[in-house]
Amino acid sequence: MFAEYLVMQASTSQACRAACLICICLLLTATGAWALEEGQEQLSSGGGFRSKPGLCTEECYKRATCNEELGGRCDCPKHLAGEDCTRKAAPSHLAAFAQTAQREARDPMPCLNNCTRRGTCALGACVCARGHFGSDCSLSLGPDGATPVLLAEQALLAGQEGEAASSSTPYKPREKRPRIYVYDVPHKYSSWYNPMKIDRGLHWAFWERLLGSGVMVANGEEADWYWIPAKLRSTSDGYRLLETIEYVRQHWPWYDRLQGHRHFVFHTGDTGRGEVTGLVRDATANLTWLHHWGLTREYKPSGWKAAHRPGKDVVVPIYFGSRQGHSVAALSGLHPRAPRLPRTQTLLFAGRICGDHSEPSPTRPWPHCATNRSSGYSQGARQLVHYHHHNRTGYKIVTHNSDYAPDLLNYKWCLAPSGGGHGHRQVLVSLMGCLPLIVSDDVMQPFEPEMDWAAFSLRVAQADVPSLHLTLQAESGEQALRRRQDALRCAAQHMVFSSSSGAFMQEDGRW
Ligand SMILES: *[C@@H]1O[C@H](CO)[C@@H](O)[C@H](O)[C@H]1NC(C)=O
Ligand SMILES: *[C@@H]1O[C@H](CO)[C@@H](O)[C@H](O)[C@H]1NC(C)=O
Ligand SMILES: *[C@@H]1O[C@H](CO)[C@@H](O)[C@H](O)[C@H]1NC(C)=O
Ligand SMILES: *[C@@H]1O[C@H](CO)[C@@H](O)[C@H](O)[C@H]1NC(C)=O
Repeated sequence: MFAEYLVMQASTSQACRAACLICICLLLTATGAWALEEGQEQLSSGGGFRSKPGLCTEECYKRATCNEELGGRCDCPKHLAGEDCTRKAAPSHLAAFAQTAQREARDPMPCLNNCTRRGTCALGACVCARGHFGSDCSLSLGPDGATPVLLAEQALLAGQEGEAASSSTPYKPREKRPRIYVYDVPHKYSSWYNPMKIDRGLHWAFWERLLGSGVMVANGEEADWYWIPAKLRSTSDGYRLLETIEYVRQHWPWYDRLQGHRHFVFHTGDTGRGEVTGLVRDATANLTWLHHWGLTREYKPSGWKAAHRPGKDVVVPIYFGSRQGHSVAALSGLHPRAPRLPRTQTLLFAGRICGDHSEPSPTRPWPHCATNRSSGYSQGARQLVHYHHHNRTGYKIVTHNSDYAPDLLNYKWCLAPSGGGHGHRQVLVSLMGCLPLIVSDDVMQPFEPEMDWAAFSLRVAQADVPSLHLTLQAESGEQALRRRQDALRCAAQHMVFSSSSGAFMQEDGRW
């Protein structure tokens, strides 16, 4: 199953291996990035690629990227248009997908892997040097002039001492499977947006990591899995996915051969795969969806579809951008040498409680909110916990909390409900070492069931919320707490993307 590829056996400390059933996801490791950085010196002195002259026009080679594998597809950067990119793009186009020249000069949009030093970065899109192509310029044609090869293979081809080249460059294909093929679709399907402005960065971050982690193959015949890097964030992006699939089917044989099986996409929207229309879901029934939302049954009050198909789709942790990542990293007590602070309080939640954004007040009847608008918010879980437990000693269930960070270090349990779709607290509180309390019926959590959530969290059915305090009391014995906290130290490593937060828990990044 695909999740088992993504979530891999722990290879950290012995203690951690015992505590954590299944571990490091390839997305989460730091190895890839290091390898790429070190490898670059080696590779840029290489060469060894062949450019087929004349596949694209000279104009295209000068201004754009020529995909030589597809017989000379000219990929324009965002500010250019036309067959061989000789026209200027319309200003409205730039406004929608890029930024002003002024802004770009001050704060340039990033390019995937900085174009692997084989191209230049223009408004967030690589313009690859002649002979190189792919979203980060890591592809080129091999000696036969037809089969595409990746960076590592290029290094080997560069020198006669292939042996020496491969041992001196830390960038190399992973030995363990899976091997993943990434379709090099035109920008308009995948990267035609400003990566600095997108609020959920997983698509971009994953993309950047794929190459560095050594799982990518240049030849689709060798792949176990195929990634269609369509940007999927909103409902309408679903239609673009259908267009992207059409493009993929026209240019490569594998989608039709596998009838869409072993192909995967990301959707980072609130309700993941449930966010696209039924038509899109049906047309892509064999795809594996990676999303943040694990709802397995329809939830009518909020109009939520049964988005997640266990065994087919994978719930992945929310991606905190580098700012959030660093702010958490600085405070987390999960570093192996950090002192274990005693946690004296019981249950913490701070955030929106009422669907209508009002401040809940015990003077009102259930659900304590000003109106019943959006009462299906968080499946009613936040409202329920507040209603029954807001005034209990050792409990803090509030909408605003100026002591949030110290509280996250001082409470034993932290409520991690859903929101207007997926929540992010299960990830945040885990990073802070607070045991997640999951009140979210029919919603699977990141990497569940491959990751054993029962080992480090507690799940309480919504029907049992009234007696929640008794359950927590029963589960808060010193040994039981310690056992879960040990397991959480390991599990939390697999919910954070080291690329944005750094390896602050000293995860070794091997897998
Ligand atoms: C790209 O280059 C910039 C500036 O040198 C650097 O800060 C950034 O980390 C690089 N990004 C990647 C993915 O290598
Ligand atoms: C999904 O795969 C099955 C075979 O496993 C095939 O019969 C069906 O047509 C495929 N559905 C779609 C929507 O591609
Ligand atoms: C909300 O609905 C409940 C029944 O579920 C009702 O008792 C309550 O009065 C309603 N509140 C408001 C403000 O309409
Ligand atoms: C909370 O409980 C105390 C007694 O334990 C009571 O005096 C107080 O009025 C309660 N406050 C609210 C807001 O319900």
